Amino acid sequence: MSCAIVGFGNIGQALAKAFARNGIEVSVATTRDPESFASAAAAIGPTIIPKKLAEAVKADIVFLAVRFESHRDVAKALPTWQGKSIVDVTNAYGVSPEELGGQALARASQMEASGLA
Ligand SMILES: NC(=O)c1ccc[n+]([C@@H]2O[C@H](COP(=O)([O-])OP(=O)(O)OC[C@H]3O[C@@H](n4cnc5c(N)ncnc54)[C@H](OP(=O)(O)O)[C@@H]3O)[C@@H](O)[C@H]2O)c1
Repeated sequence: MSCAIVGFGNIGQALAKAFARNGIEVSVATTRDPESFASAAAAIGPTIIPKKLAEAVKADIVFLAVRFESHRDVAKALPTWQGKSIVDVTNAYGVSPEELGGQALARASQMEASGLA
């Protein structure tokens, strides 16, 4: 069972530390080349593996740790998300109800990520 964290900011790095504390391998990805955050990943631990986004999203379980406005771009990284487990840690702070389409955040982003919206 492979895991990846998409987004390596405050929350992505906090998640990565939790994986590292337990010695669990996890890929991490942002919009940038993995080399640009390799030293930050290495500082957390040897089980934190920087990858390109397209590679990281091949994991069985994907932790979504980007700002809400970026989730649509992440959704485009795969032709379909059907069958994949997504742990969505984003929240709607500062996001207007209009942008959420009147739905709860989790439902809105999960539907979009799975190509259902
Ligand atoms: N559940 C909770 O308890 C909790 C608590 C606080 C915050 N949050 C939520 O967690 C999310 C992340 O917050 P944060 O403070 O960690 O944000 P942040 O520090 O701004 O980090 C966002 C990360 O996402 C990456 N990113 C942006 N666009 C991307 C894309 N299209 N593909 C891949 N990576 C992308 C950014 O990297 P680059 O821009 O370099 O590519 C950056 O590493 C937010 O939605 C926030 O509301 C949740």
